[in-house]
Amino acid sequence: MMKQKIEQLAVQLEASLAAVENKEQLAAFWQEFLGKKVHYSLLMTELRNVPAEERPQAGKIINEAKKWAEAQYQAKSEQIAQIELAAQNAREAVDITMPATRRPAGSLHPITIVKDQMVDVFAGMGFEIYEGPEIEDDYHNFTALNVPKNHPARDMQDTFYVAEDIILRTHTSPGQVRVMENQQPPIKVLVPGRVFRSDSDATHSPMFHQMEGLVVDKGITLCDLQGMLDKFVQTIFSTDVKTRLRPSYFPFTEPSVEVDVSCFECGGKGCSLCKGTGWIEVLGAGMVHRKVLENGGIDPDVYSGFAFGIGVERITMLKYGINNMGYLFENDVRFLKQFKD
Ligand code: PHE
Repeated sequence: MMKQKIEQLAVQLEASLAAVENKEQLAAFWQEFLGKKVHYSLLMTELRNVPAEERPQAGKIINEAKKWAEAQYQAKSEQIAQIELAAQNAREAVDITMPATRRPAGSLHPITIVKDQMVDVFAGMGFEIYEGPEIEDDYHNFTALNVPKNHPARDMQDTFYVAEDIILRTHTSPGQVRVMENQQPPIKVLVPGRVFRSDSDATHSPMFHQMEGLVVDKGITLCDLQGMLDKFVQTIFSTDVKTRLRPSYFPFTEPSVEVDVSCFECGGKGCSLCKGTGWIEVLGAGMVHRKVLENGGIDPDVYSGFAFGIGVERITMLKYGINNMGYLFENDVRFLKQFKD
């Protein structure tokens, strides 16, 4: 009787265990067959119905059957653990053949590229870099540069006022005065920086960049200026260009010049870029005015100097053939990513 029951139970158990596929089902299986007060535990309680002389033998059989059932459970448990581990490994596996997500790399802004090149050229000639304040006083921006109040030249530069006599600098030239106030010749400085004018169209922006140059020493002439500017345009545009000086007017230089570069597009024959003239205007310059030297605490009878002011946007537009200054400030990535140096 007991033996028969146990065999039946074994068949039932094997069928149930075969259907077990995961930990939850395995736990349910344990409850059903090996829990308290079910199957194998019940058999034990039934022992009392077995005649006393057969009881030890029956007890042994039940114990063995229970051990066997537990072993079955154990084997299944290990099998499921292995299957689940394999599934987890498959889920977490890294596919090393999968292409990596690309991180877009940035590049320098064209103005920064050109500014860096300009700094390199002049630093190579021994210029030191000085940066002055963007919020400037009227004295350094105008008066010390020989542009007294009510001077018509102030109209040339539409000024943003911060307060009375405090403005956003309209050019980097106040840097000249600040350097001279702090240093006796020899002076050889480059003043890069942002400048501001109330002006906005295809070739003007209310904020733009200039680079001021100032060289003061004994015996400095316009020839020194032209030699250095030749080197500058040859580095930025093309090794075979040259400069030309035309008379001009700035209150803080005397004489003043407008500097043209021979057209790097047509080689000087005349094209649309140089408007048929063979020359392109690139910057303003001149010999530092006696009064400006004096205002800077430098004796104009002993020393002379030249100064120049370069518009960085203008050079950038010429160099890359950009016809609208707006592109330089909109920062459209499609535009910017064309400049990889
Ligand atoms: N400051 C002048 C301007 O902004 C440029 C300049 C600088 C001219 C130095 C002569 C000397 O237009």
